[in-house]
Amino acid sequence: MTTHRLTDRLGGLAFGGDYNPEQWDAATWKEDDELMRRAGVNLATVGVFSWALLEPEEGRYAFDWLDAHLDRLHAAGVAVDLATPTASPPPWFTLTHPDALPVTPEGVRLTHGSRDTYCLAAPAYREAARRIAAALAERYADHPAVAMWHVHNEYATPCHCEHTAAAFRSWLLERHGSLDALNEAWGTAFWSQRYGSWEQVQPPRATQWHGNPGRSVDFSRFCSDLALAAYREQRDAIRAHSDLPVTTNFMLPAYQSLDLWAFGREVDLVAVDHYPCAPGVDAAADTAFGADRARSFAGGRPWLLMEQGTNTVYAGDRTLAKEPGDILRHSLGHIARGSEGALFFQWRQSRAGAEFFHSALVPHAGADSRVFREAAATGTAVGRLAELAGSTVRARAAVLHDSDAWWAMDVDGLPSRELDYHGSLRRAHRALWDARVTTDFAHPEQDLSRYRLVLAPALFLLSDAGAANLRAYVEGGGTLLVQPFSGAVDERVQARLGGYPAAPLREALGIRVEEYRPLPADAELALSDGSRARSWSESLRAEGAETVAAYTDGMLAGLPALTRHAFGAGHGWYLSTRLDDASYAALVAALAAATGLGPDVPGLPAAVESVTRRAEDGRRWHVLINHGSDPVALPGPAHDLLTDGPLAELPPGGCAVLRAR
Ligand code: GLA
Ligand code: GLA
Repeated sequence: MTTHRLTDRLGGLAFGGDYNPEQWDAATWKEDDELMRRAGVNLATVGVFSWALLEPEEGRYAFDWLDAHLDRLHAAGVAVDLATPTASPPPWFTLTHPDALPVTPEGVRLTHGSRDTYCLAAPAYREAARRIAAALAERYADHPAVAMWHVHNEYATPCHCEHTAAAFRSWLLERHGSLDALNEAWGTAFWSQRYGSWEQVQPPRATQWHGNPGRSVDFSRFCSDLALAAYREQRDAIRAHSDLPVTTNFMLPAYQSLDLWAFGREVDLVAVDHYPCAPGVDAAADTAFGADRARSFAGGRPWLLMEQGTNTVYAGDRTLAKEPGDILRHSLGHIARGSEGALFFQWRQSRAGAEFFHSALVPHAGADSRVFREAAATGTAVGRLAELAGSTVRARAAVLHDSDAWWAMDVDGLPSRELDYHGSLRRAHRALWDARVTTDFAHPEQDLSRYRLVLAPALFLLSDAGAANLRAYVEGGGTLLVQPFSGAVDERVQARLGGYPAAPLREALGIRVEEYRPLPADAELALSDGSRARSWSESLRAEGAETVAAYTDGMLAGLPALTRHAFGAGHGWYLSTRLDDASYAALVAALAAATGLGPDVPGLPAAVESVTRRAEDGRRWHVLINHGSDPVALPGPAHDLLTDGPLAELPPGGCAVLRAR
C-alpha cells in the first residue's frame, strides 16, 4: 500500500508542508488559498501542535475550526496530512498531571512553555495522547481532504522520572531475564555497583563521575523502544478508524535518540525532516546524507521528505540563508534519492512564537519575495515529476550504520573523543558522494550481498551476529573497509578480549589489533604511501593480510596502518588510523574504482551529481545537479521533465530530470 496510495491520490509527487492556519486570520486564509495554488501545493500537514485548540479542557474537544480548514483545503484541491498534536501537551494537561512532565538527569522537572515537554512513560500522558489520536481518527477518517496520518512530531524527549525508572526496570527484566544477568552484562562488579534488588536499578541520572556504559546504552535502547511503543499505540488507535498510511517524522541528520531501523519497519511510509548544517556544496552533500539514510530506513522503498527549510541552514550559533537556486537543488537532492515529494516547515513564516524567524514558503516579506518566487518555481518543477512516483534507487555501495554503535560511542571513559560516530559516518558517506557513487546505509546484521563495497566507520560496538555477517560478506566476494576502533565491544558494551576487532571479523581482515594508541590533539602522522593521518593509531599485527601502508614514526614505524586481506572470494581492508580528508577520499575513491563503482550516469564532469530512479517496468530517470561553476554539455539530446523540453546543456547550479532512453 503506502506510497502508491499517497501519490495516486495526489496525482504525482507531494509539494507543500506544515500549515498552521490557527496562527492567522480569515483574510490570510483567503490569500493562502491563492498562493498555494500559485505554488502548486498539493499536500499540507495540519494540526502538529494544535492540542490546546483541539482539546481546550480535558475531554472537551473543539473540532469546528479544524473542520473549516479541512473543508477549505479540500475545496482548494489541497490534500491533508493530518497530525496528532501530542508533541505539545496543553497547559491544562501539565497542571493536572505534573507527574507527566519530563525530569532531567539532574532531577529537574521541566515546566510548560516550550514544546516536546512530556514523559513517554507517564500513564496520564500516554492515555491522553491515545485518546486525542482516536478522537481525531474517528472524526476525520472519512473526510475527503485527509490523505495520510502524521503521528506526533520527532519523538525525542528523554526523561529520568520515577515512571521512567519503573518502565526501564521492566524493559531490563525483559532484555536480560534476571538481575544476575543484568549485573553480569553491566559489569557491576566494578566500583561496587552490584544490584541486590530491582528497586535499586535507576535510569542514568546525574552521577558523580563516569556512569556505567552498559546502563547508558541500555537506557538509549529503552528510550527508543518506549517511543516506538507510544507511536504504535497512536497508530493502532488511528487504524481502528482509517486505513490511510500512518507515519511519524524522524529528525535527521544529527539526532540520534531513535533506532530508525526499527521505526522504519513500523511506519507505512518513512518520513524525515532535514536541515543542512553547512552552506554551499556541503549542504548538497548533507542533503544526500540525509536522503540516503531515509531511503535505507525505508528498506529501499519510496519515502517522503516531510520537512526542510526554504531558507534555513543551521550552522552552529547562527542560521544561514540559502543561496539562490538551493530550494530547487535541495528538493531534487531528496527526490533523486527516492523521496516522493518535497515538503517544508512551514507554509507561512510565523509572526509570533518561538520559531518566528524560521524560514517558510511565504516569508514575512510576503509573496513579493525571492523566496516565494523560488518556492513557487520549485512547486511547478515538482509538479512535472509525476511519472517518477513509486520509482526507487539502486545502490551498490553501503555504509554500515547502527544506533547501538552510535549510543556506545557516547559512553563515558573512551580513549579519545576525536573519533566521533556521527562525524565518521558522515565522512564515509561524503567520500562516496565526492566519488559520485550512490550509497545506501546498511545495518551490520543485514544481508549485504548486493553491495560491491561496504564501509564500516566507527563500528565501535559490533554484535557477534554482526561480526559473523561481515565475515560472511567478505568470504562471499564483498570488499569491506573496516575503520579504526571498530568491533571493540560486544552488544553488552564489554570489551572484546584477545585482540580487536571481534574474532570472526578479524579472520576476514587477517589482522589482530593489540593496542589502541590515540594521538595528542595536534599530532600528525605520515604513512608510507604518502597519506597523512591524525587523532588515532593502533598497534596491529598482520595475520594473513598484506600491508598496503605502514606507519613511519615512533614505536609503530614499519608496522601496518592500512591492510588488505584476500579472504574467500572477497577482500577485507583494515584502516587503523584516521586519515585526513584528502587521503581518506583518495582511498575510498580507489576502492570504488577497484570494485567497478562509478556515477549512475557516466561520462559527466565530476562536478555533476547524478542519481537514477528506476520504475519496476524498466523506465528510468536521471536526476542531475551541476555543483560546478561551468556549464556542462549533456551527451545526446534528452528530454528534461523540469522544463518539459529537450536539454543540451546544464548551466552552473542547474538541475535536470532526464527521461532515460
Ligand atoms: C584513580 C583511581 C582508580 C582509577 C584510576 C584510573 O587512580 O583511584 O580507581 O580510577 O584513577 O582512572
Ligand atoms: C523540526 C520540527 C518543526 C520545526 C522545524 C524547524 O523539524 O519538526 O516543528 O521546529 O524543525 O526548526
